[in-house]
Amino acid sequence: MSYAMMEKQLAALLDTTDVTTNAAQMSAFLFQELKDVNWVGFYIQREPRILRLGPFQGKPACNPIPFDQGVCGKAARTLTTQRVADVHDFPGHIACDAASRSELVIPITLESGLWGVLDIDSPEPDRFSEEDAAGIEALCRVFIQQTAFIS
Ligand code: SME
Repeated sequence: MSYAMMEKQLAALLDTTDVTTNAAQMSAFLFQELKDVNWVGFYIQREPRILRLGPFQGKPACNPIPFDQGVCGKAARTLTTQRVADVHDFPGHIACDAASRSELVIPITLESGLWGVLDIDSPEPDRFSEEDAAGIEALCRVFIQQTAFIS
C-alpha cells in the first residue's frame, strides 16, 4: 500500500483522541502493513531524558532507554529521524532482538517538546529508504493531529 493510502487509512483508524488507544492502533497498523519488520512501537518520555516502553507489536523489548543510549536515545536527544542501514555499525545500538538488522526511529515532537519516539526494526539490512522515512514521518503527523496528549 502506498504511503498516501496509508495516511488515509490511519486517519480513519485513529477515531479516538486517546493517546494509548491511538498509539496501540498505530503500532498494529504499521506492523501489519509494512513488509519485513519485526518490531514497531513507541517509547514515551514520561520523565526527563528517559524513554519508557509504550504500546508496541513484536517481541518484549528493552526498557527504559536513557537519552544517551541507542538509536532511540539519539533520535530523542537530537530530535531528528534516525535511519540506520546496519545496526551493527551504529555504536551504542541496543539489541533487544538479535534478529534486527536495520532501524528507523522518528521523534514525535509537540509544541511542549519531545513526547516520545516511534521505533521500527527490520531483520533486513537497509530496509528503510528515504521515501520510507518521509512516508512514516507523515504518518506520525497524522498521529499527532488526531491525538490528545496528556502529560
Ligand atoms: N534498538 C533500539 C532499542 C529499542 S528496540 O529496537 C525495540 C535502540 O538502539 O535504541
